[in-house]
Amino acid sequence: MDLKDKVVVLTGGASGIGKATALMIARENVKAIAVADRDEQTEAVCEAMNHDLGRTVMIAFRGDVVDESFREGVFQTMEERFGPVTLCVPAAGITRDRLSVKIAKRNGSIVPDIYAEEDFRRVLDVDLVAPVYWALRTVASVAVHRANRGMGAWAPDESMQGAIVLIGSVSSAGNRGQISYATAKAGLEGAQATLAKEAIFYGVRCAIIHPGFTDTPMVRALGDDIIRENVLPNTQLRRLIRPDEIASAIVFMLQNSAVSGSLWADAGWHPQA
Ligand SMILES: NC(=O)c1ccc[n+]([C@@H]2O[C@H](COP(=O)([O-])OP(=O)(O)OC[C@H]3O[C@@H](n4cnc5c(N)ncnc54)[C@H](O)[C@@H]3O)[C@@H](O)[C@H]2O)c1
Repeated sequence: MDLKDKVVVLTGGASGIGKATALMIARENVKAIAVADRDEQTEAVCEAMNHDLGRTVMIAFRGDVVDESFREGVFQTMEERFGPVTLCVPAAGITRDRLSVKIAKRNGSIVPDIYAEEDFRRVLDVDLVAPVYWALRTVASVAVHRANRGMGAWAPDESMQGAIVLIGSVSSAGNRGQISYATAKAGLEGAQATLAKEAIFYGVRCAIIHPGFTDTPMVRALGDDIIRENVLPNTQLRRLIRPDEIASAIVFMLQNSAVSGSLWADAGWHPQA
């Protein structure tokens, strides 16, 4: 699928994988990219990217991806200004890492110290519910546009109408200290598999990428010691993945209409038992 003149919504675009992906998609001559992020640098990051690209392609939207009215505002603005949104990469994500069950001592007694439910729900909201709903809203954008033109089921002799790439993680297969994050990322696999079956009715593909440890602020926050001692020894490539390596895989997945499933871009991540 040629990305030229497409209208894109991308979350988490102010940093890391999202930012690298926004830049790489822009180079495919898309019409506009909504960069939705809560970071206060979002506008400045978009301005700098537009400056480097030599044209205004990034449109900054600052807000929380969990907020339904923020999401609706982004889509309505993009649809009014540029037309239906046909590509979506919901990349915003957070971690709240901690072992699931620990033992604590309180007033001389041994008590269980269980992972906070509030943290679990927040990670699920940001990393699972939000990306699914940004993806659904993209399918809706294409569906309404088609219905307004009297078009029903997509036919193979039409060109592909849109594509979504969800951002999973190697942690979806389970990772110590990531009970909430791993659950959210594994949940995205079910969403992707379902959307792949449903959204093709409107000519929209849905795929998922599972990146390994990538050199972004999220991973740098783990600290150099953990990266050196726990990440790199279990990574065949023996280095962190560069954000642009994940970005180029995402662009490939958007472009190549044969892609409909999952891609593990994990640098050979093989954690020990
Ligand atoms: N870095 C890795 O090793 C790695 C590996 C696998 C998957 N991922 C996934 O890739 C995606 C991007 O991660 P990254 O490593 O680039 O992280 P990052 O921290 O560099 O970027 C994440 C961006 O998401 C934004 N964000 C977070 N919560 C938000 C919210 N509620 N509303 C709006 N914006 C919000 C942040 O402001 C930030 O700009 C995430 O979904 C992450 O889970 C990362």
